[in-house]
Amino acid sequence: MKGIFPIEAFKTVRTPFYYYDTTLLRKTLQTVNNEAARYNNYHVHYAIKANANAKILGIIREAGLGADCVSGGEVKAALKAGIPASQIVFAGVAKADWEIELGLEHDIFCFNVESMPELEVINQLATACGKTAQVAFRINPNVGAHTHSNITTGLAENKFGINMEFLDEAIDLALSLSHIRLIGIHFHIGSQILDMSDFIALCNRVNDIQDSLAQRNIQVEHINLGGGLGIDYKHPNRQPVPDFETYFATIAQHLKVRPGQQVHFEPGRSIVGQCGSLISRVLYVKQGVTKQFAMLDAGFTDLIRPALYQAYHKIENLSSDEPAETYDVVGPICESTDVFGKAIDLNRVHRGDFVALRSAGAYGEIMACGYNCRELPKGYLSEDFS
Ligand code: LLP
Repeated sequence: MKGIFPIEAFKTVRTPFYYYDTTLLRKTLQTVNNEAARYNNYHVHYAIKANANAKILGIIREAGLGADCVSGGEVKAALKAGIPASQIVFAGVAKADWEIELGLEHDIFCFNVESMPELEVINQLATACGKTAQVAFRINPNVGAHTHSNITTGLAENKFGINMEFLDEAIDLALSLSHIRLIGIHFHIGSQILDMSDFIALCNRVNDIQDSLAQRNIQVEHINLGGGLGIDYKHPNRQPVPDFETYFATIAQHLKVRPGQQVHFEPGRSIVGQCGSLISRVLYVKQGVTKQFAMLDAGFTDLIRPALYQAYHKIENLSSDEPAETYDVVGPICESTDVFGKAIDLNRVHRGDFVALRSAGAYGEIMACGYNCRELPKGYLSEDFS
């Protein structure tokens, strides 16, 4: 055992693989549930896009969370895990007809609609099957977030949501359509947000929108604020369960909720991020002219975040306590972006050592790909090794 990792048991399986600490996952779920329960109108839908591993979804379903889906595949995964359709919200900037039909067939709670053409198609398909679709408008609030530019979503220039200047028109359209019931408004400003002022800005914007809806005598039942709460990638052990208390309290303080309104959240990363690590073995230690490389059997096909977003994942040598040396930690893929970290201090590295890339439970396994004909990494729960 080094830290939380059962290294001896790791020798029985093939690397690289994802390792999920289910004690931490369950503790995180319990915390999010307890903190949300302080407010009698808060509802949490786990954003499946962060991690759709069936065993992980099973644990999330046991905790009673709903699901936020962005594709027909995710709706299927949620249903297969046993998450009730009445707790499924379905966003997605371009939903295919079959995906909409799937949602209608199962009477999902709500379609988060991202454009007027989509609204018309949902109405047509709902009419064809004799159902009324419950919809929320995903509104692009034009609120920035202090996060990487590739993962901001709430600016006017982004493709997501309905721009505020078209909101009136979209409402008129919704009210005119026979098989549409407008039940809510939905927002998501970005991901890996640690600065609460971004969420405050979102609340202020939602308050303004509610005021202008009220002038039209419209009050929706549901407000969905999306996801976005970040995690501490630099120090995975410092506060492994994100601060849901402050997050919900900030929203409660700044969002003006009208009588009877329900508030929904779609956290992904904050639920599963810290419980997962990518476990890899060192294949070679190679001396360069000015540096040395620790060459892993994991590459960006297993964890693409560093290559795609210049993301930092803490790297630990699980097999050595020898004095630290400095390495560039790289993978085996034939691309120069296949680098997990440059000038990283690790306990002296040897061929065969186990290395953990921490905080990889969200957007890790699910974003793996088969480039270079590589096998997809497997995911194991901590209890699979006991
Ligand atoms: N709701 C909506 C509508 C979203 O688009 C997202 C994430 C979430 C909820 C969940 O956000 P979270 O709580 O996980 O921040 N692959 C990127 C992150 C992309 C996030 C996309 N949308 C990464 O690895 O950082």
